[in-house]
Amino acid sequence: MNLLVATRGWDPRLWIARLGALLPGRRIDTPETLEDPWSVAYALTWRHAPGAFEGLPNLKAIFSLGAGVDHALVDPRLPPAPLVRVVDPDLTGRMSEWVAMQVLLHHRQFRRYDRQQREKVWDEDENQPAARDVRVGVLGLGEIGLDAAVKLKALGFAVAGWSRTARQADFPTFHGVGGLDALLARTDVLVCLLPLTPDTRGLLKASLFAKLPRGGRLGPVLINAGRGELQVEADIVAALDTGVLKGASLDVFETEPLPQESPLWAREDVFVSPHNAGLSEPQAVARYIADQILDFERGEPLRNVVDRKRGY
Ligand code: NDP
Ligand code: OXD
Repeated sequence: MNLLVATRGWDPRLWIARLGALLPGRRIDTPETLEDPWSVAYALTWRHAPGAFEGLPNLKAIFSLGAGVDHALVDPRLPPAPLVRVVDPDLTGRMSEWVAMQVLLHHRQFRRYDRQQREKVWDEDENQPAARDVRVGVLGLGEIGLDAAVKLKALGFAVAGWSRTARQADFPTFHGVGGLDALLARTDVLVCLLPLTPDTRGLLKASLFAKLPRGGRLGPVLINAGRGELQVEADIVAALDTGVLKGASLDVFETEPLPQESPLWAREDVFVSPHNAGLSEPQAVARYIADQILDFERGEPLRNVVDRKRGY
């Protein structure tokens, strides 16, 4: 019942050390060190090279090291074993922290006051809106979106959310293709926490930005920590240039790392972070995976198995 860890961009040694401590007595390989494919019961992936999990006759489950699984599903040779994603309070909490910070950076005009401090200017804005006057629309009401929405509501923002199927929450919710325009029509700050699927790819584009109301106390502002391929970056830049958007916070990009020549780096109206809004912290995530493996071997069902047809 050994493990195979295949990552690109993340150092597998950290994961091997953590998992080794939690699952003593098992061999944990990378594709480079694997000698006995028959011994592998569990494959762990973060953007593994396509085909890395082929030829593992005893594979029981594939674990994504993140909440998203688009990076695994792009592999046309991914074995049919159950694909499990991360659902863990450590990761969810980190994501909500980032979202709350970004909403507040725009809401409390961080760039302006940061510039004023550097220039030793004392100039207060008597029109600073209250959170209750700012409408935040959250795209995606899953593990992360719901947590972020609840925390933004606790800060006082006028929150609403959108999902694929109907969701009950302590704030207005909309769902499905038909519900999107209603959500957009009451949104000053649009927060995207959607997975990347064939239905969501390229959703954040010019025609959607045009549906966000202008003339509110803040915004329209776009905040995306879902996936880069959800957004059309040329459209974001054009919308910022023409005032259709007033600002953006982006943690994810069409190409990662964000290319040096991207105009997003230098914009005062954009906050860029390096796809680390919700870091998969090896201690927490290794614990989650080890617990699942041990429970599974005691006969319990795997939790948080992805529906491959839906894509999340
Ligand atoms: P979940 O699967 O729990 O939630 C996904 C949500 O998106 C659900 O509410 C779902 O609707 C909704 N959704 C999916 N497809 C559609 C659609 N076509 N139309 C409308 N709503 C849709 O995912 P998580 O909350 O755990 O994670 C969300 C994403 O966040 C991940 O897939 C990943 O891409 C990203 N992420 C980014 C990180 C970062 O560091 N930047 C870190 C962690 C995650 P329904 O409720 O009806 O199923
Ligand atoms: C994830 C991520 O999906 O870090 O967990 O992007």
